[in-house]
Amino acid sequence: MAIVDLETIPEVNLAFMDSDHREEGRLINALGEAVVALREGRGSPGDVQKRFAALDAHTHAHFAREEAAMERAGFPPYPVHKAEHDHVVAEMVYEGRWFAEHRDAERLWAYVSQAVPTWLVGHVESMDLVTARFLAARATRPRPATATRRVRLSRG
Ligand SMILES: [Fe+2]
Repeated sequence: MAIVDLETIPEVNLAFMDSDHREEGRLINALGEAVVALREGRGSPGDVQKRFAALDAHTHAHFAREEAAMERAGFPPYPVHKAEHDHVVAEMVYEGRWFAEHRDAERLWAYVSQAVPTWLVGHVESMDLVTARFLAARATRPRPATATRRVRLSRG
């Protein structure tokens, strides 16, 4: 059974974010399958590491897209949201290194089957939802009228 049911990931109704969250879930499931195979003696550490690298790369890109959108929109709680991203990335890098050194499939299974999906759903339901609402409101707010009067420059 998949770790993350892609159909039940909460939607924030902003296409790029919903798409990133779905891909995050898909990559978590792919890594989980490789870890299960390794625990059952039919997988390989190399396959686990390859899938871990794919999840890690997507997570970096996914966070970068959200952060760029928040910065462009001037989202006031940006530092709080970014701090949570930084924490998740640091933990992911640490777990990847730990597995590379120790080949500890039990520890990685706990991380990928519990810690990461719990974080994903909690984060989407809180920070991402608030962020998406702000971004959507910014996108639909009318722009302030621009000045059309010409300014005559004095010469000398
Ligand atoms: Fe986020």
